[in-house]
Amino acid sequence: MNKVDVLLGLQWGDEGKGKIVDVLTPKYDIIARFQGGPNAGHTLEFDGIKHVLHTIPSGIFREDTLNVIGNGVVIDPVIFQREIEKLAPFNIDVKSRLLISNKAHLILPTHRLLDAASEQAKGKSKIGSTLKGIGPTYMDKTGRNGLRVGDIFTPNFKEKYDQLVEKHVGILSHHDNFEYDLAELEPAFFEGIELLKSLTTIDSEHYLNNALKEGKTILAEGAQGTLLDIDFGSYPFVTSSNTITAGTCTGLGVAPTRIGNVIGIFKAYCTRVGSGPFPTELHDGIGEKIRKEGFEFGATTGRPRRCGWIDLPSLKYAIMINGATELSMMKSDVLDNFETIKVCTHYEIEGKKIDYLPFDIKDVEVNPIYEEVKGWNCDLTKLTSFDDAPQELKDYVAYLEKHLEVPITTVSVGPDRTQTLTNKH
Ligand code: GDP
Ligand code: IMO
Ligand code: MG
Repeated sequence: MNKVDVLLGLQWGDEGKGKIVDVLTPKYDIIARFQGGPNAGHTLEFDGIKHVLHTIPSGIFREDTLNVIGNGVVIDPVIFQREIEKLAPFNIDVKSRLLISNKAHLILPTHRLLDAASEQAKGKSKIGSTLKGIGPTYMDKTGRNGLRVGDIFTPNFKEKYDQLVEKHVGILSHHDNFEYDLAELEPAFFEGIELLKSLTTIDSEHYLNNALKEGKTILAEGAQGTLLDIDFGSYPFVTSSNTITAGTCTGLGVAPTRIGNVIGIFKAYCTRVGSGPFPTELHDGIGEKIRKEGFEFGATTGRPRRCGWIDLPSLKYAIMINGATELSMMKSDVLDNFETIKVCTHYEIEGKKIDYLPFDIKDVEVNPIYEEVKGWNCDLTKLTSFDDAPQELKDYVAYLEKHLEVPITTVSVGPDRTQTLTNKH
């Protein structure tokens, strides 16, 4: 029986997951999202066109691939409808190529309102949520109040909806100075529900396990990143789902023994969007330069991303938690114009040198300890083979592999599908 391979982010999201899933898709029969929702923004670029997907798996543009939205995902019918509409010019038969779990939870307009009200109430200590209603929807899921895709086919769906909305309106009434107009938001929601009804909904756990039995190949596409994981991220500045390999099991209904390769993906440096600790963050001209060269602005919210040097203690942690078997290094070309590149190997906290993320990371001053590596200082974007890469890039990759103890099999040198190099081992 085949196994499910997993591709996920090892940092704070936006590592380039969409691009690599698109590159790997020809090797797989099925691409499946297992957690998160429209807080994700996955960018794919080919034939001169840039696509950003939020809920739909990144295999949707390849003709022979099926795409599954698993039970662990949360779906906003409004954003989902817009995503589907954006695919219209590409003549994709969405009904046959996209399968949606009956058990995926629905984001209601009031979930979005609750997200905004909660952030407003937190003031300065806000999470920096994408305001897509992710937290409140997962809260209703674990609180056993949620509505699922399968519910939309039941005759009393509207009744269930009204009941949950009543509860939300009650909570919102406790938020001072929070104004909203629910009646304005509801028509788009119910339009989205009608669209969902017209698509293919399935019991995806059966579908995927049967597919494995039949010898089909599956790639699970992570959203967000390990350092935003609800259990292992920089809590409370995290998202509300398990973004790690284990999330694949619960988010798709595949057993741990059915997990195959785990591809961990990271940038040649580091970014974060939203609040929370970021030990290697650069507040100077170098951070600004990385943001500019890497065009580091959120694919979902357009917010500028915070930028800094690569952070090995956090990467080692993420590799451990996920059991990564291979790595992809992204956006190497963004460091094309640096004489030297810094790598954080340890942290110093109150005079002590450590190489792990401390529990109280958000409350203590963390000083990153750096080693310097020589930069390649040339244009990588035209490279077609890793063999032809400048020695300094090869040295950087080898240096990281030595510390991380996992092979870096892919090196990305630009946003396009074709700008992807294989590092043979
Ligand atoms: P995801 O959320 O992990 O899928 O990543 P995002 O799409 O949010 O952000 C990654 C951004 O970097 C997108 O704009 C990609 O087009 C771009 N990108 C991906 N790989 C590379 C690369 O190797 N070089 C450059 N310059 N850009 C890249
Ligand atoms: P992809 O899949 C980067 C961040 C938000 C915020 C925190 C909580 O594109 O890598 P949420 O809306 O989930 O309640 O926000 O998590 N965040 C992301 N950052 N990439 C993402 O997704 C993210 N999804 C959420 O900025 O700090
Ligand atoms: Mg993104």
